[in-house]
Amino acid sequence: MRSTLAAAIAYVTIAAATVASAEPPAGAAACSGCHPSSARVQSPVVRLVGRDRAEIVKAMQDFRSGARAGTVMDRIAKGFTDAEIQAIAAWYAAQR
Ligand code: HEC
Repeated sequence: MRSTLAAAIAYVTIAAATVASAEPPAGAAACSGCHPSSARVQSPVVRLVGRDRAEIVKAMQDFRSGARAGTVMDRIAKGFTDAEIQAIAAWYAAQR
């Protein structure tokens, strides 16, 4: 009986964690309007879904510092901290 309860609690905990990790991090909604969060969505804007996390972080840092020119990304990148960029990049890298 005890082990059934423990298993049930473990199941609920794992399910909750799975849902939480699928939730976009703070700030990601500011990206997904242009960069879709699913590979199934067609968009003329460069894809971030499934891209390497480090690549996204590097691009954002270069846009922010001015090392890389952009039409919009140089301005957008200035509004994000390193921690936010890391979280958003990890989330995009995990989407399919
Ligand atoms: C208004 C639309 C728009 C929004 C919002 C936007 N982007 Fe972009 N993004 C672009 C465009 C357009 C480019 C191509 C570079 C340029 O012209 O600035 C780009 C390029 C990029 C690139 C470079 C990809 C590559 O391989 O060349 C990254 C990384 C990126 N965006 C990340 C983000 C993140 C992270 C956010 C949210 C914080 C975001 N973008 C929000 C339109 C947008």
